[in-house]
Amino acid sequence: MASTVILIGFMGTGKSAVGSYLARGLGWNFFDADIQIEKRMGMPVAEVFEKHGEDTFRTAEAAVVTGLLDKAASSREGTVVSLGGGAVTVPEIARRLRHEPLVIMLDEDLETAFKRAGGGTRPLAGDLDSFRRLFEDRQELYRQLAGYVIDTRGKEIREVSDAVAMIIGAGEGD
Ligand code: S3P
Repeated sequence: MASTVILIGFMGTGKSAVGSYLARGLGWNFFDADIQIEKRMGMPVAEVFEKHGEDTFRTAEAAVVTGLLDKAASSREGTVVSLGGGAVTVPEIARRLRHEPLVIMLDEDLETAFKRAGGGTRPLAGDLDSFRRLFEDRQELYRQLAGYVIDTRGKEIREVSDAVAMIIGAGEGD
């Protein structure tokens, strides 16, 4: 059976950039859950929050992520999936992740994550204080669900991607 790698972690930890780089290098399929949610809802994530609220976004996120994981599980090709930072807080998604062998957390410091993700259009990344609160609240959950944690501090996308590839290689030998 082909492998599925799932990248989790807070906003601004590089999940999408690393996921697409890694998938390209491996010749695997790549899905960014947020982009798939945008396709499903027909509007950007920020607009879903604004017009319909976070609960609607999370419901769509659960459907999209479970759908992507089903598709990956039945595919003959390898798949990399990058999840949004809050996906782990959705019980249906968390339950699914507990059965996946290659859930990898990208771990970055708060300041760097905020520099990358803060102040833009992301609905939950407007100001540093609330960003910090969410960051702290979720750390334990990421670690509970991840089989592996990669410290991305000071690393290039390529280096983080190489670290994920090493983990996959190690898993395949089992
Ligand atoms: C969110 C993270 C975002 C996106 C949405 C909510 C969160 O994804 O799903 O804005 O709750 O942390 P990224 O982690 O890709 O920014």
